Amino acid sequence: MQQLKDQLLTILRHVGTDIDTFRRVTDKLSTILAQETSLLLKSDAHPIQTPVTEMVGTRCTENVVLIPILRSGLAMLPAFQTFFEKSKVGIVGYYRDKTTAKAINYYENLPPITNEDRLIIIDPMLATGGTACSVVELLLQHNVPEEKIIFTGVLASPEGKRHLEFTYPKVNIILGAVDKHLNHVKYIVPGIGDFGDRYFGTV
Ligand code: URA
Repeated sequence: MQQLKDQLLTILRHVGTDIDTFRRVTDKLSTILAQETSLLLKSDAHPIQTPVTEMVGTRCTENVVLIPILRSGLAMLPAFQTFFEKSKVGIVGYYRDKTTAKAINYYENLPPITNEDRLIIIDPMLATGGTACSVVELLLQHNVPEEKIIFTGVLASPEGKRHLEFTYPKVNIILGAVDKHLNHVKYIVPGIGDFGDRYFGTV
């Protein structure tokens, strides 16, 4: 699967990729990431009757709550909603304070969360990890156990991945790839550039 993810990432990384291709490939890669994420969900044995005989199948025992981070997280949402057909969606927005460099929450609209829920934060670029950690912190404040949280992204910097892993070791992380490093303006290198600008056409 990594080979296919790398091929799709190569298209996203290419500076000449146009917006329609960028969106289509984002959707395809997000579907693969949704499938990888689904392997973390709990299931149980489920006895059924087929037209031919009885058998014990399996079924997922967790409900999915998708948490896209504005704005780029919205790019992964259609594929994730198609994959997790019954998922609820909670949207959060953060901006970076220019003086403290801290992620500040400016928008939060979460559905009611139950014990059977598994929360999947979706954001394409895990750069510094600051925003991802702030979203995890927000969910913990809503009494979500840390081990019920998954972060799924397209690309990470080693620094961002380490930051999230170190701060919240029980959060599972699913990624398309991990790149080399962050540059001085906190872009992932070699990276994709500004994901939101390329996806929404605001370059
Ligand atoms: N956000 C982006 O869109 N790109 C990066 O490289 C880092 C953060």
